[in-house]
Amino acid sequence: MEFNVKSGHPEKQRTACVVIGVYEPRRLSEVGKRLDDISEGYLSSILRRGDLEGKIGQTLLLHNVPGTLADRVLLVGCGRERELADTQYRKVIKHAIRTLHETGSMEAVCYLTELNVRGRDSAWKIRQAIETAHSSLYVFDQLKTQKENTRRPLRKIVFTVTSRRELGVAEKASHQAQKIAEAVKFAKDLGNLPGNICTPSYLADEAKKLCALHKQLSCKVLLETSLKKQGFNALLAIAKGSKQAPRLIVLEYKAGKKNALPIVLVGKGVTFDAGGISLKPSKDMDQMKYDMMGAAAVLGTISAAAELQLPLNIVGIIPTVENLPGGSACKPGDIVTSLSGQTIEILNTDAEGRVILSDALTYAERFKPDVVIDVATLTGACVIALGQHAHALLSNHRPLTHDLLNAGRTSGDRAWEMPLWDEYQEQIDSNFADVANIGGREAGTITAACFLSRFTKKYHWAHLDIAGTAWLSGKKNKGATGRPIPLLTQYLIDRCNEEPFILPKIE
Ligand code: BES
Ligand code: MN
Ligand code: ZN
Repeated sequence: MEFNVKSGHPEKQRTACVVIGVYEPRRLSEVGKRLDDISEGYLSSILRRGDLEGKIGQTLLLHNVPGTLADRVLLVGCGRERELADTQYRKVIKHAIRTLHETGSMEAVCYLTELNVRGRDSAWKIRQAIETAHSSLYVFDQLKTQKENTRRPLRKIVFTVTSRRELGVAEKASHQAQKIAEAVKFAKDLGNLPGNICTPSYLADEAKKLCALHKQLSCKVLLETSLKKQGFNALLAIAKGSKQAPRLIVLEYKAGKKNALPIVLVGKGVTFDAGGISLKPSKDMDQMKYDMMGAAAVLGTISAAAELQLPLNIVGIIPTVENLPGGSACKPGDIVTSLSGQTIEILNTDAEGRVILSDALTYAERFKPDVVIDVATLTGACVIALGQHAHALLSNHRPLTHDLLNAGRTSGDRAWEMPLWDEYQEQIDSNFADVANIGGREAGTITAACFLSRFTKKYHWAHLDIAGTAWLSGKKNKGATGRPIPLLTQYLIDRCNEEPFILPKIE
């Protein structure tokens, strides 16, 4: 799909379709009014007849509108003008794109980016429109032998800005949006692949492929023997129940100042989570193929950063395993010595994510990180607490919390903070080891983060629990979402606009 930006009058567009907003009740948008004048009241006469109220979700396709050069004009309901905010705007764009795609316009000029969205500028509207368009047209049909082909699919869409002065920022926004959207698609595809295809070694191969595309990206994959030698016993313990060997994938993106401390991203890569010996119930267990979406988000974010040539140093660390029950699987009560030297009592083998992350987070220390952000489908409790709309954010550093929450608000991929108070720590005390891997029914998302915090004391750290947001399970739009790639990429973009922390040279 091709995206463009331009400015210009709607009646002058020689295109298959011009897309115009209509507010509720039956009120044309600014651009709509202009087109109405030129067509000598054609649009307003249609609205007066009551064909389109202007509610969100409504559309009306018109042909041969007098005075225009376009084949069609698509009127799109935008709801009440005063209520048009982020969420409504994205819905409006989604309905417009789907209608274009289904009604045979292979290209279109869309004026919805000129609507007033509360508190948002043109760059934001362009970016959201392109990202939304991409995701509205996403299909995962790699594994279907019969693909559903749309006869005349939407191929090209031009979004408009009100004046030529805005073209510069709009083009930049469009470029960013496309790179973010591609990264999101990449992660969705990885997530939607089943566990028998997307295994730890498959993820490692994908990481290597990614690194081959950019000269500033390099990749190292630690195999079982070297993991054993170096003492990644927590990671290895979880992998033991499966025939699939574990991996630790390490990516390095070096495009920042030589001595600028790296931003480290850590992603949970459980390619299938059956729970291990603490076996999960079979209902919906298939969804546990998505338990590697943290890993996919880290890969996607790093790929977006490389595509956008962000002047930063970034490290990606992905511990990846399959969590299955088996003759040699670890058992409830097993105690392992993690890479950090701390001992872990694995009371529940289904709380595997935090266990493999503990070694990855310890490994992160050696990169002298500026900050470490881990991303994980970590707890069912998070789905109960926040549902599918917000990631849970827990952190040991206020400024980092602040930056991530802001990046979420800007990108529309929002996180919500939960407390990481000391009082919760005692829930994961163990009788027999330094720490237990479960903390009881209460505050499950917080105690999981408490567990991680035992391994992140030496640096600034934030944890994103994406259990509710990484995929959608209902009837509609089932599948991976690619979140939190928009949030993380926005955070990286924001970081480029500030001075990096420089490691002082020691003579
Ligand atoms: N991958 C799951 C978390 C999960 C469950 C994400 C459902 C999305 C939907 C994780 O490994 C897990 O099983 N967590 C357990 C922890 C518990 C045993 C303390 C959970 O949340 O039930
Ligand atoms: Mn689990
Ligand atoms: Zn899991």
